[in-house]
Amino acid sequence: MTTPRESAIKAARQAGLLVSERLGRIRDIDYKGAYNIVTDVDRDSEELIVSILRSDFPDFGLVGEEGGEKQAGSPRRWLVDPIDGTTNYTHGYPFFSISIALEEAGRMVLGVVYNPLADELFWAEEGKGAWLNDRRLAVSAQRSLATSLLATGFPADTRAAPDDNMIRFFTLTDLSHGVRRDGSAALDLCFVAAGRLDGFWETKLSPWDVAAGIAIVSEAGGRISDLSGQPFDIRKGHILATNGLIHDEVVAVLESLKGRRLAEIGSGEDSN
Ligand code: IPD
Ligand code: CA
Ligand code: CA
Repeated sequence: MTTPRESAIKAARQAGLLVSERLGRIRDIDYKGAYNIVTDVDRDSEELIVSILRSDFPDFGLVGEEGGEKQAGSPRRWLVDPIDGTTNYTHGYPFFSISIALEEAGRMVLGVVYNPLADELFWAEEGKGAWLNDRRLAVSAQRSLATSLLATGFPADTRAAPDDNMIRFFTLTDLSHGVRRDGSAALDLCFVAAGRLDGFWETKLSPWDVAAGIAIVSEAGGRISDLSGQPFDIRKGHILATNGLIHDEVVAVLESLKGRRLAEIGSGEDSN
């Protein structure tokens, strides 16, 4: 009998093949609202994933970013992001993933994130550890923010949003080895799990962006909260994921920036 893990991995790999074969051959680019891009490949990838998961587990609920929704209120449901990193995908920037999670009574019990171009399959199952292909993952042992590498992301509506994340990006860049902005929250979380990053934060993410990554970071020994260090709430989507060791230090910085905007700091002395 197929297990949920086998089914999710099969779906992620098949969707990864479809998405990578069609890179550079997008037929339609549409906008969901003013800023969110969606392509024909996002839709076809979701259709393929949904057909596999539904045929293996017809009783499970499912929520997909591109509208696939079946029995969404059931106690076991799949959360599917058919391309995480659509902006990158649209531009041919090679950093995107397929993300599939299984939620059971509010807990993320299984997460699969696949980067098809690197052929990196990240997965975790509750109590069974986090894995990259056949290698067991553990978060980094970095103890200090000053020597940490971080990542963040910006909401699609950043030019219009009052909380634009710029002040956090600016401040934490100076306080660490740097802040990457790579454009796939699911992969950013996997990189924390793999110890390639020591921490990641972003606001206003959707459940399908983070669900699989949360399972993977947790099983790799990392810590997840909101930006204030309080329990993460998937309905709000404000997430801080770290190796655990630098968590309180990052929270203290984020708290000190609460309610502030970069514009307040001003441009300072002009060195030119
Ligand atoms: C986006 C990516 C990106 C993050 C955005 C998300 P999408 O997901 O995860 O890294 O910064 O906030 O919306 O739209 O490419 O599936
Ligand atoms: Ca996404
Ligand atoms: Ca997506």
